[in-house]
Amino acid sequence: MKLRNIIKKITNPFLKAGLDFYYRKPRKYAYQDIEVLVHPEVFPPHLTLSTKILLDFISEKELQNKTFLELGCGSGIISLLASKKGAKVTASDINKTALEYLEKASKENNLEVACVYSNLFENLQGKHFDFIIINPPYYPKKPKNTKEEAWFCGEDFEYFKNLFQQLPSFISARVSPKALAEGQESNSYMILSEDCNIEKINSIALENGIQLKMVLQTKKSGEENFIFSIHSENGL
Ligand SMILES: C[S@@+](CC[C@H](N)C(=O)[O-])C[C@H]1O[C@@H](n2cnc3c(N)ncnc32)[C@H](O)[C@@H]1O
Repeated sequence: MKLRNIIKKITNPFLKAGLDFYYRKPRKYAYQDIEVLVHPEVFPPHLTLSTKILLDFISEKELQNKTFLELGCGSGIISLLASKKGAKVTASDINKTALEYLEKASKENNLEVACVYSNLFENLQGKHFDFIIINPPYYPKKPKNTKEEAWFCGEDFEYFKNLFQQLPSFISARVSPKALAEGQESNSYMILSEDCNIEKINSIALENGIQLKMVLQTKKSGEENFIFSIHSENGL
């Protein structure tokens, strides 16, 4: 069964019971020699492809001394990898349990990550980042609790409306429309899946002067995922 169908069927009581049973206690997740413990209230990277695709993507990037933000860090394994690659890392989330567990993982892996509780960029005012990585919630439904914030972006895509309004002030290096047309990438990236309404998300981005440019397309376990670089139209 395709992974996305599994996720859709999470509302199926039997599958939900099975998943709840598996995630009744914190579960380990590892990449290279980095290991995190994922609390049941935190986005499970084991179940989806997006975290692993981003980890592979980041592992190819030159990050030494770069300022790096993982917006909505969940388990924070991407942040830990960025730190291992020499970046100065900030990991933010609205899930306090995720941040507590990441603080512990950061000590256990001997990697430095600044953990910040923040609704999008609310508590990150005045900061600029060379790299921003986002694995967003994208199912259009109102989240009922913190755990669901990892999956649902609001009935009317409120997460993306707020994100694209706030984002331009936090990207260090903007890419001008000319450079964009010539194929230059920004260093802000977002992953989306074929299972989400990319057209709608793209139209919200454009309304806010933001262009999404696909830089990676990958098909695994029958599911297509895309990484977009994020460009502010008000390029320097
Ligand atoms: C799909 S998960 C991705 C987690 C992690 N980045 C990864 O790739 O494994 C989305 C994350 O965004 C967080 N999130 C959702 N809405 C947020 C908001 N308004 N501000 C900050 N974080 C948010 C969720 O709590 C969750 O940890």
